[in-house]
Amino acid sequence: MQVVEAKGLAIPLVGLGTWALRGRDCARLVEQAIRLGYRHIDTAQMYDNEREVGEGVRASGKRNEVMVTTKVQPTLLSPPDLERSVKESLAKLRLDVIDLLLIHWPNPRVPLAETLGAMAKMKSEGYARQLGVSNFTVALLDEASALSNEPLVCNQIECHPFLDQDKVIAACRLRGMAVMAYSPIARGGAKGDKLLERIGKAHGKSAAQVCLRWLTQQGIAVIPRTSKVERLEENLANLEFDLSDAEMREIAGLARSGGRIVDWTWPPKWD
Ligand SMILES: NC(=O)c1ccc[n+]([C@@H]2O[C@H](COP(=O)([O-])OP(=O)(O)OC[C@H]3O[C@@H](n4cnc5c(N)ncnc54)[C@H](OP(=O)(O)O)[C@@H]3O)[C@@H](O)[C@H]2O)c1
Repeated sequence: MQVVEAKGLAIPLVGLGTWALRGRDCARLVEQAIRLGYRHIDTAQMYDNEREVGEGVRASGKRNEVMVTTKVQPTLLSPPDLERSVKESLAKLRLDVIDLLLIHWPNPRVPLAETLGAMAKMKSEGYARQLGVSNFTVALLDEASALSNEPLVCNQIECHPFLDQDKVIAACRLRGMAVMAYSPIARGGAKGDKLLERIGKAHGKSAAQVCLRWLTQQGIAVIPRTSKVERLEENLANLEFDLSDAEMREIAGLARSGGRIVDWTWPPKWD
């Protein structure tokens, strides 16, 4: 598996997203993905599937080769809530440690310094190996970098050709953080896009593979989700071809205002 390095952590370029995967299907897909070569599985407290994700990882027999990411719910960012919820996550996952622990969304109601302090405590006490953030803006990345005593290895953000994320990507790179793209095939929207299909045809690849390759070729880690075993292979195989500079530029031209898929009310309000 090809990786992107950030602050000493080797992050697999392709991982499996698990939002909306549930029950036996979730455990089976996770196990199958690892058997096919996936080395990163992304879950979150919010997805209510940590138990099944852990089950799939254990069933693969390759726990030691796989990076498991989970994320702390934005309503649980005060230190006592965060600490309790991380211990619960680990108990549900039934793994030795959380490889990568992220703040799922910022919550302006809880001081960031307190949350980052609690995250660092989780690391020093052995609950998490590495720490990072998700859905952080450029300003919040500045704030977090100044406040955190521990390295923050990545910012997981919505990222695909239909959305211009250049500023936040540049801010991550400036701080040596990896960019991890969620909704990397625009929740399936890549399929049916004329440009991605045309470029795919020229390479004997699908539009979804072109969409993913556009990201991985920039050193952006992707976590596409699928409920179909055959698509696990298709999505992983985006690493097997290269786009030309002209194709990369053409795809970048797909960005448009209103290209965001996940609701982005700013500042976020969490009750
Ligand atoms: N940090 C955050 O706030 C945040 C927010 C959103 C998501 N995430 C994470 O990122 C992961 C991925 O994002 P996502 O689930 O929103 O969207 P996504 O991965 O961009 O798209 C998933 C959708 O695409 C379809 N699909 C998958 N592979 C395909 C292929 N090769 N060709 C055509 N369609 C394909 C899937 O349908 P089938 O099941 O039918 O294949 C599914 O409907 C999530 O699962 C989650 O782990 C994080």
